[in-house]
Amino acid sequence: MDVRRESATSPPHRAELGSRALFRDLEVPVYLNHASVSPPSLAVRDAVTRTMDGYARRGMAWYSEEMDRRERVRGQLARLIGAQAPDLALVPNTSAGVMTVALCLPWQRGDKIVLFEGEFPTNITPWQQATRRHGLEIVWMQADSFRHDRAAALEQLEDQLRAGARLVAVSAVQFTTGQRMPLAEIGAMCRHHGSELFVDAIQAAGVVPLDVDSMCIDYLTAGSHKWLMAPEGLAGFYAAPQAAERLQPNVAAWLSHEEPFAFLTDGPGQLRYDRPIVPSARMAEAGTFNVLGTAGLEASLGLIEQLGVENIFNHVQAWHDAVEPGLVERGLESARMRDPGGRSGILSVRPADPHTTPAWAAALAERGVSCGSPDGWLRLSPHWPNALTEAEALFKAFDGAASALGV
Ligand SMILES: Cc1ncc(COP(=O)(O)O)c(C=O)c1O
Repeated sequence: MDVRRESATSPPHRAELGSRALFRDLEVPVYLNHASVSPPSLAVRDAVTRTMDGYARRGMAWYSEEMDRRERVRGQLARLIGAQAPDLALVPNTSAGVMTVALCLPWQRGDKIVLFEGEFPTNITPWQQATRRHGLEIVWMQADSFRHDRAAALEQLEDQLRAGARLVAVSAVQFTTGQRMPLAEIGAMCRHHGSELFVDAIQAAGVVPLDVDSMCIDYLTAGSHKWLMAPEGLAGFYAAPQAAERLQPNVAAWLSHEEPFAFLTDGPGQLRYDRPIVPSARMAEAGTFNVLGTAGLEASLGLIEQLGVENIFNHVQAWHDAVEPGLVERGLESARMRDPGGRSGILSVRPADPHTTPAWAAALAERGVSCGSPDGWLRLSPHWPNALTEAEALFKAFDGAASALGV
């Protein structure tokens, strides 16, 4: 029988800042919604198709290709955040990363968790559930206070850490305003006061440089379908080695054990239930994997690595620079921080009456601009394929939308 052995890696695709050559089927003329869901590049589509084709031809014999790929992807994600591959796990979504820590930390009644009003609910609900089960206390701060007076907000946070908060859970970038949180400062404070730092990085990874070591991040999770530009249903989960040691294996299942496949491959007598649980983030890799998503993620991370996150960030900032003044001139309020350290891939603006934001988003969509509208903000989120020349088309769409809405 002819069993074709074909490489699981896709042929090389070249990414170029400001070029949509790898997105030739994208029908939206100005796509500014990477903070919601990224369209897949040709590289991602090829990779996903190759995986399907591999299984179609070889069935179970293809499985090892995907196991090898997972190892490569953990390495790619680790490089993206300045971590080591053994400290990275692939989990189903950002929420799974949050839940892993919320369910597995050995909480003591009365432990305090610092959370931020304005966060996406992914980084709230699991902590609320842990609070309900273990009698914890949530200390609320306003995420926006870090945008208005960063120094004062950091002082308030330090007061909470001094008072003994056990953990701070924060997004690297706020999903509404695009505010990049001062992770390095927060991390240093947490380390100093013996608290832990948990980061939801889904709105940062792939567009904003991240470094878990220098930012003193204990846990980080980031889903694949936004700035990582891969299909939905996959996320990276990082736990620093010393932090992973604290986690109890409350989410463990068959793949969480050492040598989980031995009973399937190594003959009789290997079916045991007492193999140790892997003492790292990998404990969260509990069951069968999302192979299609992982194939897509390998390809999209390959493009991001070609370009470099720093270069992508600078390109996106140049795009923001090109459009922000024109939008402010048109009467929109910009949430972009003057301090470059507070900027991200998201440029959010809002009309005088934020209740009209959904109508603005719909009117812009009719004029070929796709953007988000979370909580009263018009969220523009360009990524590396967006050309700086899109500003003209964007202004035209805004002017058309303004006339249609009668403002
Ligand atoms: C900050 C933030 N966290 C998490 C999510 C999503 O979490 P999950 O990957 O679990 O769906 C989003 C958006 O969908 C988000 O903006």
